[in-house]
Amino acid sequence: MSLPLDPARIRAEFPSFKQADLKDLAFFENAGGSYTSASVLNRMRAYYWNTKVQPYGAYPASRAAGEAMDEAHRRMAIALNVAADWIHFGPSTSANTYTLGRAFESWLKPGDAVIVTNQDHEANTGAWRKLASRGAEIREWKVDPQTGHLNIADLDKLLDSKVRLLAMPHASNIVGEINPVADVVRRAKAFGVVTVVDGVSYAPHGLPDLLTLGCDIYLFSAYKVYGPHQGIMAVRPSLAAELPNQGHFFNETAPRKRLVPAGPDHAQIAASGGIVDYIEKVAEIAGPDAPGANPYRKAALAMRAQETALLAPLLDYLRKKNDVRLIGPDDPTKRVPTVSIVVDRPASHVAGMISRHNIGVGGGHFYAYRLLDAVGVNPTHGVLRMSFVHYTTPEEVDRLIAALDAEL
Ligand SMILES: Cc1ncc(COP(=O)(O)O)c(C=O)c1O
Repeated sequence: MSLPLDPARIRAEFPSFKQADLKDLAFFENAGGSYTSASVLNRMRAYYWNTKVQPYGAYPASRAAGEAMDEAHRRMAIALNVAADWIHFGPSTSANTYTLGRAFESWLKPGDAVIVTNQDHEANTGAWRKLASRGAEIREWKVDPQTGHLNIADLDKLLDSKVRLLAMPHASNIVGEINPVADVVRRAKAFGVVTVVDGVSYAPHGLPDLLTLGCDIYLFSAYKVYGPHQGIMAVRPSLAAELPNQGHFFNETAPRKRLVPAGPDHAQIAASGGIVDYIEKVAEIAGPDAPGANPYRKAALAMRAQETALLAPLLDYLRKKNDVRLIGPDDPTKRVPTVSIVVDRPASHVAGMISRHNIGVGGGHFYAYRLLDAVGVNPTHGVLRMSFVHYTTPEEVDRLIAALDAEL
């Protein structure tokens, strides 16, 4: 198997791989939260050791604390190819969509329509469906009940001049298919629709270029992208300014505070700069000849190429197993390596059996309750989910296949 990223060099960036308690665990629950990179942990430690004071004050430690937070905003923005004033940190993506939902309550007029999908994690669909109580008409872009695929032709039937907002996932945390966000955004923009994209399941596989995607809001969770437990949302500044202030009244004109009513976690924000350090390291490991216009795109392409190569044998194996139903595409180039299958026993039970092989997988509905319902799977029965990222090794994938073969 030809891999663009040397697994040994990549894994050296994660202290978890050296811990006795995690030794030999083949970790396939990365969609629930990835390991944290040393670059993030170092910044976190530096913040707590040297600058654990109220930031943005007059004295040196306080100024340094504020500078570390500003640096995280700046660096994250560069990696996402937007200006720094797009970046907002909040406690989690669920908390961020909840706040956005409140903000849009008075931005919408009664009778305006909102498009949601039934492919999303509940965080990016429930918050918008609640707008029905404020008079919004909710239109559901439904998945294909067999494959979980979102069909563009179905979206076109929902779009008209009444629609003001559309929320969708970049990739579902169950189906794994990479949705054509730029195309959807183009179609939505033709009707003046604001687009909200949940990138939680996509971002760990390579941060996107938001300018190319074109959406108005992009959300992801730093704790799944080798970082601390924060939600990050990029919001088009002109839209953020238009939305009603959700913070304290005296913060009306403070762009970073208007959409984040919770007091920010200073240390975790500062540590998030380490996510970008790590991505630059990935670009360095990919080498000067790897494709990509800048380090962030280079790292994203290398992560995708690595994961596509690792994913092929698992999908080949599942394709041959007639009694297992894969949700989503079996072509590794069309999906992220978050692979869900329907098994004949409750999925959490099978996850327990796989864990006896020192392999961590998940079983359940993973908060995509509506999606499981839509594809005919009882959410309490759930799916077995095996999710990995670029730091996974070919040997671990082989071990997973052997364990599935023994237990299914
Ligand atoms: C696709 C997707 N969206 C949203 C969320 C919610 O993220 P958070 O845990 O940061 O609230 C998750 C969490 O698993 C997810 O997988």
